[in-house]
Amino acid sequence: MKNMILLLGLALLATVGGVGEEVFAADELNCVLCHKYRGLSRVDKEGNFRLFYINEKMFKKSPHSRLKCIDCHSDIDEIPHKPAKKVDCTKECHLEEPSSNEKFSHKPVSEILDRSVHSKYDENGNLKEMAGKYPEDYPHCKDCHDNPLYRPLSFFKGEAAGISRRGLSRCKTCHTKGEFAETFYAHVTSRLQKMRSPKEIVGICAKCHGDPGFQERHELDAVVTSYQETFHGKAVHFGSEEAPDCIDCHVVSGESVHFIEGRESPTSAIAEGNVATTCRTAECHADAGENIAGFQVHVTYDKEKYPLQHYMLKFFTALMAGVLYFFVVIIFLELLRRLFPNFSFVKSSGTDEHGH
Ligand code: HEC
Ligand code: HEC
Ligand code: HEC
Ligand code: HEC
Ligand code: HEC
Ligand code: HEC
Repeated sequence: MKNMILLLGLALLATVGGVGEEVFAADELNCVLCHKYRGLSRVDKEGNFRLFYINEKMFKKSPHSRLKCIDCHSDIDEIPHKPAKKVDCTKECHLEEPSSNEKFSHKPVSEILDRSVHSKYDENGNLKEMAGKYPEDYPHCKDCHDNPLYRPLSFFKGEAAGISRRGLSRCKTCHTKGEFAETFYAHVTSRLQKMRSPKEIVGICAKCHGDPGFQERHELDAVVTSYQETFHGKAVHFGSEEAPDCIDCHVVSGESVHFIEGRESPTSAIAEGNVATTCRTAECHADAGENIAGFQVHVTYDKEKYPLQHYMLKFFTALMAGVLYFFVVIIFLELLRRLFPNFSFVKSSGTDEHGH
């Protein structure tokens, strides 16, 4: 069966396009020879459409452009190949990290994640009860990093958010040959700013935290909706890049974005004593006093958890409705009088009210 599919794929190739453009460095086994065809796809057993197309241009611009396909897809060692295994993001690759000269890997990220609230294990290293029951609720790399390269229909997406290219000309005064300046300029500048827009970050977290079933399982508030009700959320919704997203408030300044802690942890960005510090970053409320911590950033109107907010909302809704309906009635009557100045419910007998 698999062979037949492969043959089908190859037949498709033959019809779609010519062969024989230059092989790029990352691609020793010439994977792109087949994978550059947009039609390389099928519907899998579960009925999902799967696209095996790799956009070469996007790949070459991606952070992984210096890796070989088989650095990550290491189970593929012959062509034609068998169905591939899932990629393990924490494996070592052939690159060396220049400050330590050690083989590079993302293991440190995974270790940070293991210390965060998102770990499947508690402080004592025991599997959390909920993680045993619902392992897929606990995020791993690919839940948050669904890089468009690894996702079907990626070629409809534009390039990553603009990095100023201005400084590049300065590097080029000295580093004049090849793509060296471009490569390292992008390498450094992309780390000096957020790559994802606040909206995208909210989208990442909302995958789990925005799901009502998830909230119920983990007894967590509807934080995404409540965030969206605040000024912060609205500003981000309308495209602000300055208003805080989830990461800005939930990661202590200077820590890895992967080190999100729960509110119970005394070192978390949202622990009771730390909230004011979290708000007081240079970009946000630099001069705010301690009382800024009292501002509710996740406004929920849950009757049990926040009775004051709940009844305030009820009260103001009623007040609004009352005032509104009152004026609507007044305006309606006023309009009637203007349209029919002589109308009256009591039949007029031709005399005025004084009987003349
Ligand atoms: C001779 C053509 C050809 C070459 C060369 C080739 N592939 Fe593929 N590849 C295919 C086809 C066809 C499929 C779709 C198979 C299917 O329908 O399951 C595929 C599927 C895949 C998948 C998804 C498979 C799965 O089961 O999830 C991965 C990953 C992959 N290829 C990686 C590679 C890598 C890495 C290389 C280079 C080392 C490579 N391919 C070289 C033809 C090729
Ligand atoms: C940095 C690691 C990395 C590199 C380098 C890499 N891939 Fe992948 N690739 C992934 C991940 C992660 C996925 C998502 C599926 C998974 O978890 O295995 C994926 C998925 C795929 C798929 C299947 C898409 C699908 O929907 O199932 C194909 C085909 C593929 N890669 C081909 C390639 C080719 C060809 C190259 C070289 C040009 C390459 N990859 C380089 C990590 C990588
Ligand atoms: C809960 C979501 C989440 C999970 C899980 C996650 N990441 Fe991230 N990661 C992020 C966000 C958000 C950023 C910052 C993105 C930006 O600046 O646009 C990021 C940034 C990064 C960066 C860039 C360096 C940095 O720290 O800013 C690397 C590398 C990275 N992640 C690797 C990984 C790896 C490897 C894993 C799995 C072990 C992983 N991530 C798991 C959300 C996540
Ligand atoms: C005034 C000339 C000059 C400018 C401008 C310049 N560099 Fe360099 N760069 C050098 C020299 C000389 C070295 C080697 C220095 C050494 O080994 O101590 C170097 C080394 C490097 C290295 C380390 C290479 C390695 O393999 O060790 C990187 C990366 C780099 N430069 C990137 C950049 C970037 C990015 C810019 C622009 C933001 C830039 N450089 C601007 C002269 C310059
Ligand atoms: C794959 C699902 C998933 C994604 C994606 C995810 N989370 Fe979580 N998050 C969880 C789970 C599960 C818990 C509960 C962990 C526990 O209690 O053991 C949690 C807990 C938390 C907590 C702690 C709540 C408390 O107890 O005080 C915060 C804060 C948090 N997440 C923020 C984020 C942010 C910010 C993002 C986006 C960058 C994000 N999460 C993305 C699953 C996810
Ligand atoms: C302006 C700062 C700020 C932003 C933005 C923000 N949070 Fe929070 N978050 C907090 C604070 C402070 C708390 C603890 C107090 C509270 O619940 O109001 C909290 C609490 C939480 C909790 C724990 C809720 C519970 O049930 O105990 C989770 C989970 C969470 N936030 C996730 C998120 C996610 C996901 C986003 C993005 C959609 C986000 N936060 C955006 C500041 C923020």
